[in-house]
Amino acid sequence: MKKVTLKPVNVPLTGNLSVPGDKSISHRAIIFGSLARGKTKISNFLNGEDCLMTIKAFQSMGVKIDHKDDNVVIDSEGVTGFKEPLEPIYFGNSGTTARLMLGLLAGLPFHTTVYGDPSLTKRPMDRIRDPLIEMGAKIDGRNNGSLLPIAVRGQSLTGITFKPPVKSAQVKSGVLLAGLLAEGETTVIETTKTRDHTETMLSAFGGEITVNGNTVTVKGNQSLTGTEIEIPGDISSAAFFIVGALLVPGSQITIKNVGLNPTRTGLLDVLNQMGANLKIVETRRIGGEPIGDITVQYRELNAIEIDGDVIPRMIDEFPILALLATQIEGKTIIRDAEELRHKETDRISSVVNILNTLGAKVKGTDDGMIIEGKSPLIGGEVNSDGDHRLGMMIAIASLICQEDVTLVDPDVINISYPNFFDDLKKLQMI
Ligand code: S3P
Repeated sequence: MKKVTLKPVNVPLTGNLSVPGDKSISHRAIIFGSLARGKTKISNFLNGEDCLMTIKAFQSMGVKIDHKDDNVVIDSEGVTGFKEPLEPIYFGNSGTTARLMLGLLAGLPFHTTVYGDPSLTKRPMDRIRDPLIEMGAKIDGRNNGSLLPIAVRGQSLTGITFKPPVKSAQVKSGVLLAGLLAEGETTVIETTKTRDHTETMLSAFGGEITVNGNTVTVKGNQSLTGTEIEIPGDISSAAFFIVGALLVPGSQITIKNVGLNPTRTGLLDVLNQMGANLKIVETRRIGGEPIGDITVQYRELNAIEIDGDVIPRMIDEFPILALLATQIEGKTIIRDAEELRHKETDRISSVVNILNTLGAKVKGTDDGMIIEGKSPLIGGEVNSDGDHRLGMMIAIASLICQEDVTLVDPDVINISYPNFFDDLKKLQMI
C-alpha cells in the first residue's frame, strides 16, 4: 500500500485559503438537480470521490450530468425520466450516497442493486431500511437488508411520521426523499437537530417543506424546478487547518467562504469555549446557507468536557478535535458520541490507536474519549484505515511531531479533499 513520509517542518500556518465545496451540500445539489425538471447549474462543487458516486448513480439512471472541475450542469426531465439502471450501482465509500439514495430508490418504479467498498459494506443500513419498510418499501440484502449489497424493488410508498432512534442527518434526509415520492405527508421528528441542508435545498428548488423546531414535514408528488446553486466551502475540511493553526505557535490564518450553517458549527462553539481566538464574519447567504470567513490565531487552550446537543453539530470533527486535545493541559472528555463507532471506521478505536502510536495519552470509552494533555507527539508509522478524516488528522499531527510520520494510504484523502496537501503547503509558505 502507498505510504508518504511527512517530515517535521516546524513552520506556522499563515495566510488565506478557500477550502473546496461542502460534501453534504454537494451530494444534495446533485440529488435535487436530478429530481428537478430543467437545468441546474452548480458551482464550487466538491470534486471528491464520494460526491462523484452520487453523480454516477444518477447518470446510471439516465440523467444528463456534465461535470468539469468544480462546475456541474444537470439537465433532467425529473423523476419520470429516470430509467432502470442496467447494472448494480457502486456507492464507493459514501455513506451519504447510500442512505439518501436508498430513500429515493425505494419509491422509484424499478429494481436496483447497490453496493459499496469494504468500509461501506460494514456500515449499518437498518437505520434507513426500517423507516422505508414502514413506508411500504421492498428492500433485501445481506443480514436482512441491514448491510450492503442491497436490492430495492421500487414501490408506491405512503408517508409516515418517524422519530429516528439515531441522530443522523443521512437517515432524516433519506426518509424525506422517500417522502417526496410517497402518498400523503412524511414527518421526521428529531430529538436533537442534525444538519438541515436537505430542508434548505428543497426550498431552493421550489419545494414545499415545513420546519417547526426539530419537526420537518414534506408532501409527496411535488414538482421541483432546476436552479443555480453555489456550494459553500466545507467547514469540516476547514476544521483541519483551523486546528492546525491552534497547534503550531505563531500561526494565523483566514479560511474564506466557509459554510456557517449553525447545524455544522459545533466545533467553533467548542473552540470558543476552550478559549480560542476566533473571528467569524458572516458575509452572505446563498440558497439559504450562511457563508463567511473564519480567522484563527494560535493560542493555548483549556481542556473542557464535550457532550449533549453539540455532538451532532460537529460529528465529523472529533478526530481533529482529539488531536488538538492532546496538546491542551488537562483532561478533555468527549461523551454522547457513540455514533463515531459507525463512521468510515470506528472513529473511537481508530483515533485512540493512531494518537497513542504517535505518543499521546488517549482512552476510548463506549461513547467517546478521554484525552490527557499535554503529551509531546513523537511520530511513527500510522495507517489512515481507509478513512479520509483520519488521513488528514495524521497529516496535521505531523506538523507538531518531533520525528517523521509515515502515513499509510494517503490517497484516501481524495474522498473529501483531493487538494488537501497542496492547500496545506500554501499555508506553510512564509
Ligand atoms: C452527513 C451526515 C453525517 C456525517 C456525514 C455526512 C450528511 O452522518 O457524519 O459525513 O451529509 O447528511 P450521519 O447522518 O450518519 O450522522
